[in-house]
Parts: sequence; C-alpha cells; structure tokens
Amino acid sequence: DAVARPIGARFGSALSSRPQGASADNPRYAALLRADCGVLVAENEMKWQHLRPAPDRFDFAAFDRIADFATREHMALRGHNLLWQRRKWMPRWLEAHDFGARPATEAARLLREHIETVTRRYGTRITSYDVVNEAVTPETGALEETALSQALGGTEATLDLAFRTARAAAPHAELVYNDYMSWEPGNAAHRAGVLRLLEGFRRRGTPVDALGLQSHIVTAGSDTAPSARAYEGEWRRFLDAVTAMGYRLLITEFDVRDNGLPVEVAARDRGVADYARRYLDVTLSYPGLRDVLAWGLCDRFSWIGPFEPRPDKAPRRPCPYDVDYCPKPLHAAIARAL
Ligand code: XIL
Repeated sequence: DAVARPIGARFGSALSSRPQGASADNPRYAALLRADCGVLVAENEMKWQHLRPAPDRFDFAAFDRIADFATREHMALRGHNLLWQRRKWMPRWLEAHDFGARPATEAARLLREHIETVTRRYGTRITSYDVVNEAVTPETGALEETALSQALGGTEATLDLAFRTARAAAPHAELVYNDYMSWEPGNAAHRAGVLRLLEGFRRRGTPVDALGLQSHIVTAGSDTAPSARAYEGEWRRFLDAVTAMGYRLLITEFDVRDNGLPVEVAARDRGVADYARRYLDVTLSYPGLRDVLAWGLCDRFSWIGPFEPRPDKAPRRPCPYDVDYCPKPLHAAIARAL
C-alpha cells in the first residue's frame, strides 16, 4: 500500500476467518496483510449464506473478527456483499421461503431488514459496499432471478430497492455494483448486459456510485502479450461507456487464472505477471480508479484451484505470494502498476 499511495491508489485484499487459512489469526498471513494492505474485504463472511443462517437469525461472529482486525490495524473495510443475485449463492432457506399472501411485501421486508441490519451494525467502519453482486447472466446479458426477486416483482425493482435502502441506511458509504465481466473475448454479452443495467440505474435515479471490476483475469497461453493487446480496445470501449455515465471504477477481486502457460513455475509466473501488468496498466489509466483489491494474497489459500483446477492438475498460482508466502513476479508487477 505504501507503494500505491503516491498516485492515490490503494491496495488491499480479501481475507477469511479460517484460523489456519487466509486469515488474521494465521500469523504468516497477517504479516502479508500488514505489509501490503490499506483496505480489506471478507472473502465469504458477509454473504447471506454465512451471515443469515435463518430468516430470523443473524450470525455476525466470523465477520466481526475480520472487522475488528481491520479496525485495530487502521485499515479500511469493504462490505461484500449485501445481495448476491444468484440462486446458488443465496441461502437455501430463501428458495424455500414462504412469501405468504403478499409476496412483494414480504420480499421487500426481508431485503430491507438485511441491508439495514448489516449497515447499521458496522456504521462508518465500512466505507464501501458491493450492494449487489453478479446480477447479469454472462452468456446472454439478461438479468438473473432468485426467489427473492421473483417475489418482489422483478430483478430491477429488487436491485433498486437494495441500493436505495443502502443509501438511506449508510449515507457515508460508496455503493458499488460488482461483477466479473472481463476484458477477455467471450465476455461481450456480459459486458453489454452490465452496460444496460448501469444505464437503467441512471435512468431510474438508482443511487449507484461505482462499478466493481472483479478482475478474475485469465491468461490464454504463452502468447499473452499479443492477446492482451488485442483485448485492450474492447476493454477501453467498455470502461469509457461506464465512466461516461458517471460511474467510478474499482478493482475488487483481482487474481489470475494461469491457463495455457507452461507448467514450469518460473515461466508461468512471468507469464502471469506480464499479463497482469498489461491489464492493470490499461485499467488504472482511468483516473477515478482508486482501490485495487486482490482476491487473496497467497496461492496456498486461493479459491481458484478448487473452483477451476488446471487441466494438467498443476497447482494454480493466481496470487502475489506463493504457497510458502514468498513474493512472486506478480507482486512486483502490481507494485509497479500502482
Ligand atoms: C468465492 C470465494 O472465494 C469462495 O471461497 C466461495 O466458495 C465462493 O465465492 N465472485 C465473487 C466472490 O463475488 O464472492 C467469489 O468468492 C468469487 C467470485
């Protein structure tokens, strides 16, 4: 973060609450957080599935430990997220919930109660929220539906209510729509869908301040230099359109899926770092972009391996530090880009 500050950028990372994992209770991971981060985000602990085990019960214990660490260390804290517009990532009980005779009223009550309970508990300690996460279907650009949004009368109405409630309950906070449309080819429908959603927010006066670029970027192979150059034009057109509507940008979940690159570690790490540097240089050229958050600092705990193993089964290397907590070329590349 000391590296990032001169141009006004701020570096940070996700962390978890698992004692032996990517958490503040793991002294080696805590040391990385202290060395690099000015802002933190909980990898899972604020999600409905974790925070709200039943409609009438909240469990803040795991997130509280993360928030307390951030406070003690004088680090800023982001909230991820207040609504994840995906059936599979919302709690099971929500899909089975009895919305009763007035489903829209009950759905609005559940959503408002959730957002007000969370934002009021943490007050000004949380300075920025991913109010809505991933509402666009990547393949089609259409809006996702859940039991909650169907009961409430549609996805747009649901997202609008989420943002309006967050603005009223946490007027100090930056309100973000967060999604993973990326710069690689194959993301055109996703980007178009996000632009339509952002246009709709503006048309309806929905209080959204920024677009969160998750930035789970993917190398295509050893030819990352030419392919990265080819992606740049489309990406700039997208970011130009977003910023022209008055949205700020931030990078919320940066990591690199090391596809196609050789198994050999030194070459792979170089390929990842070069590719990341190009992505960051283009994206950070947008002046309002301040926060750059990695989705974990250390390969040992990254979600990418379990989520999408490399076809050759070689351990993934998506993060700035390797499994032994040693900095990789990606770490230097980020520092130089900031
Ligand atoms: C991931 C976590 O890293 C995993 O531990 C969990 O099992 C699933 O969620 N986009 C997001 C994040 O917005 O919340 C996701 O985090 C990664 C993709």
